Amino acid sequence: MNRTPAKFYAPLATGAPAPLRQIPVKLERMIHFVPPHVEKIRSRVPDIISQVDVVLGNLEDAIPADQKSAARRGFIAMAEANDFGDTGLWTRINCLNSPWALDDILEIVPAVGAKLDVVMLPKVEGPWDIHYLDQLLAQLEARHAIKRPILIHAILETAEGVQNVDAIAGASPRMHGMSLGPADLAASRGMKTTRVGGGHPGYGVLADTGAAGGERPFFQQDLWHYTVQKMVDACMTYGLKPFYGPFGDFSDGPACEAQFRNAFLQGCLGAWSLHPTQIGIAKAVFSPDPAEVAFARKIVAAMPDGTGAAIVDGKFQDDATWKQAKVIVDLAQLVAAKDPERAALYGL
Ligand code: GLV
Ligand code: MG
Repeated sequence: MNRTPAKFYAPLATGAPAPLRQIPVKLERMIHFVPPHVEKIRSRVPDIISQVDVVLGNLEDAIPADQKSAARRGFIAMAEANDFGDTGLWTRINCLNSPWALDDILEIVPAVGAKLDVVMLPKVEGPWDIHYLDQLLAQLEARHAIKRPILIHAILETAEGVQNVDAIAGASPRMHGMSLGPADLAASRGMKTTRVGGGHPGYGVLADTGAAGGERPFFQQDLWHYTVQKMVDACMTYGLKPFYGPFGDFSDGPACEAQFRNAFLQGCLGAWSLHPTQIGIAKAVFSPDPAEVAFARKIVAAMPDGTGAAIVDGKFQDDATWKQAKVIVDLAQLVAAKDPERAALYGL
């Protein structure tokens, strides 16, 4: 159960900033993961800031147990040392039932909470996880005079979390969005795979035997289609932002691009980049295609008030296609404001 409408937007601690009514409109095509305990990578953060939309200091999986506090300290150091401008600063804390999560929150928020945009919370199982972090963040914001609410981004990566995805999305006005975590989700579901996201050569459909006999083509299918769509529907219902998460095969750029593109077409706004090569892939996929933008602009121009019907390039348009076109034009404008090269491609 949630709070009553009257209390839903009230701060959860006296002196904490009021929750936002809307998620800030920001370009977040890639959430770039940095292991903050590695000094050499930390020294590259100024350069990374200029190339990505979001920098995330990862404290959870992939950070060895004996490096957890070094990663936490490293994150605080990198947050203090850099000016992030309009690039987002996020951290992925350890999951709530780990021995590290409490210290992650209690050390990071007082030190750099004023600079922190989003806390990514892994292995969220239900709204109770969001309520716990929500309350704790409000208490810390109040105690440390943080003026802007720190948002929560949930990773959807357990079977139970998928079952509860709507309740997670609606748990708090502090919710920013969600990412699909295909690696943990595969484990939690007992899937018979050994991968971080992407397809599987065994998952698909075999074409019927043709009348002429011969070879029967096999079509590989997207293992993540159902979950991505369920997550997108939950997020959009509550005004949150949906993301595809990680793609682990760094040697297969085209497969990463295909997975990101499926998510983009299904409604996602970005994905994680775990390797520098994936920054460019995410930028290309999550910025709308110039030809689509040109067509969308024609639709908007043909129906200036968004109602009625029109034929554009032989294709029927009405209020519903106008709304689709508007999604693409709005995103193109957001991209153009940050990226002069793409602004020129879009003619904006
Ligand atoms: C991400 O955290 C995943 O488990 O895929
Ligand atoms: Mg995970």
